[in-house]
Amino acid sequence: MVSTMPMQPWFAEAKLGIFIHWGIYAVDGTLESWAFQLGEVPYDEYMKQLNGFTAEHYDPREWAELFARVGARYAVLTSRHHDGVALWPNGLSVGQDLLSGYADALREHGLKVGFYYSHSDWSRPDYAEISHEEPYVKVIQPLAPGFLSYRDGQVDELMRRYKPDLMWFDGEWEHPESEWGLDKLAALMLAHNPEVVFNGRMLSHGDYATPEQGVPITAPDGPWELCLTLNESWGYRHGDTNYKSVRQIVRYFAETIGMGGNLLLDIGPRADGTIPPEQVSLLEGLGAWIAKHSEAVYGTVAGLPHGHHYGPSTLSADRSTLNLILFDTPRETVSVRGVRNKVRRAHVNGIELGHRVTGGLGEVPGVLWIDAPPAHALDDYATVLTVELDGPLDLYRGTGRN
Ligand code: GLC
Repeated sequence: MVSTMPMQPWFAEAKLGIFIHWGIYAVDGTLESWAFQLGEVPYDEYMKQLNGFTAEHYDPREWAELFARVGARYAVLTSRHHDGVALWPNGLSVGQDLLSGYADALREHGLKVGFYYSHSDWSRPDYAEISHEEPYVKVIQPLAPGFLSYRDGQVDELMRRYKPDLMWFDGEWEHPESEWGLDKLAALMLAHNPEVVFNGRMLSHGDYATPEQGVPITAPDGPWELCLTLNESWGYRHGDTNYKSVRQIVRYFAETIGMGGNLLLDIGPRADGTIPPEQVSLLEGLGAWIAKHSEAVYGTVAGLPHGHHYGPSTLSADRSTLNLILFDTPRETVSVRGVRNKVRRAHVNGIELGHRVTGGLGEVPGVLWIDAPPAHALDDYATVLTVELDGPLDLYRGTGRN
């Protein structure tokens, strides 16, 4: 990973993106692509879902309005998943162009346009062998040149028609990087748009790391983004009601931005193009929290490293305002260790809080104790305690004075 191109500033400033897994799998609610790969559904039955994929109530303006309202700055839509079914007319496709309305609507709302695209295509005979008995898919080694020109042609068309700001690749693991022809693919995309951003599954050409579902314990090097489902599925599955709560999503988001990452939160629209109401309300719940605490979100950088405060935090761009994010109800005090600065002010939404320092010796700062905010100042989901410092954060990271 880590390319030589400087990262586009919009990406690190975005904080929230919306991932959209939309495809024919929403018709029966099968696992996206994997259903036939894993032998859950025969290939032909999986592909019959093409007939039920109507997109009849698809309103990309409504999508974009929702994404903008909840505070997202970009979105990533599955232009073609591992099943090979494209959302625009090219090869095996749903037979409609579902991408241009999406790209236009996002841009109207000031959002950056991203496409998910799978390097692998299990429907292509020059990529994999489909059988009518289990296992339904067998990947044949090595990659055929004809397949790579098919992939390059599709990506070229995506770049030309929709001018995406971000290309989010996947499905790279079935072949080594040397076989994927990524130098050529990257050059092709950069020729269309020198500022296009690639996720880490463009391997050595990736601009940022792509942890999936699991929250990193230490931040990956460089820019990164956690992709996460709202329930247990990427695409729409009728039976999956195992949704995370708004409070849990707020926590994921706070932990992520507190370590300098973005959250790419996934929705799975139904086959008719509508977003299930449970998903809308989870996005709105997160969006309401973000709107209320936007100063602790936008224009911030990663906060304190682990060990200084029990919970995530962010810092203003000039590093002189520390936003402590409190998930639980504090008792008596909130403490911060290792801060050498003087505190000018501590408050929750303008409600002033007393503070003092105990201990410390020589270069080792004491413990900063901030009075617990009164109950009425606490946020239902996560409270932001703002600490204004006398200058850029000056942090002690040592082992203490002997
Ligand atoms: C995995 C899965 C895929 C999903 C993706 C999202 O790579 O193969 O189904 O789209 O993760 O990150």
